[in-house]
Amino acid sequence: MQTPDILVINGPNLNMLGTREPQIYGRETLKDLQALISAKAAELEVRVEFFQSNHEGAIVDRIQEARGKSDFILLNAGAYTHTSVAIRDALSGVDIPFYEIHISNVHRREEFRHHSYLSGIAEGVICGFGLNGYLYALENAAALLRSR
Ligand code: DQA
Repeated sequence: MQTPDILVINGPNLNMLGTREPQIYGRETLKDLQALISAKAAELEVRVEFFQSNHEGAIVDRIQEARGKSDFILLNAGAYTHTSVAIRDALSGVDIPFYEIHISNVHRREEFRHHSYLSGIAEGVICGFGLNGYLYALENAAALLRSR
């Protein structure tokens, strides 16, 4: 198999990591997160690409662009997780396996965060492991792709 291509998408407000509610999301920035993921990707010998947007349509566009290019998506859709049929439809449409990621344990938080439009079509869901969740997801995605 060729080197797997994994797309990491972060949704709204995740550009504010490090300063946004640090008691929930920690003090590391999006740049720090991307550096951690890149280091893990090098170890696992997979390619990663990063995308962050605060706009639902831009996320839909990026998912559509990934069709036929990315082998797997790691997606923290932020608040759109709980609201977006459009992002769910885009994911179903491109038929790329994905893991849903949340830094916080959404099930311990407000009721409106307990429902996800994405979980029902995700390969897996990781929440409550902080930034490590992305690294666990990356490891699993790499293993899954290599086993196919
Ligand atoms: C989040 C949880 C969401 O409920 C929230 O809207 C976010 C971040 C998380 O990573 O824990 O923006 O996806």
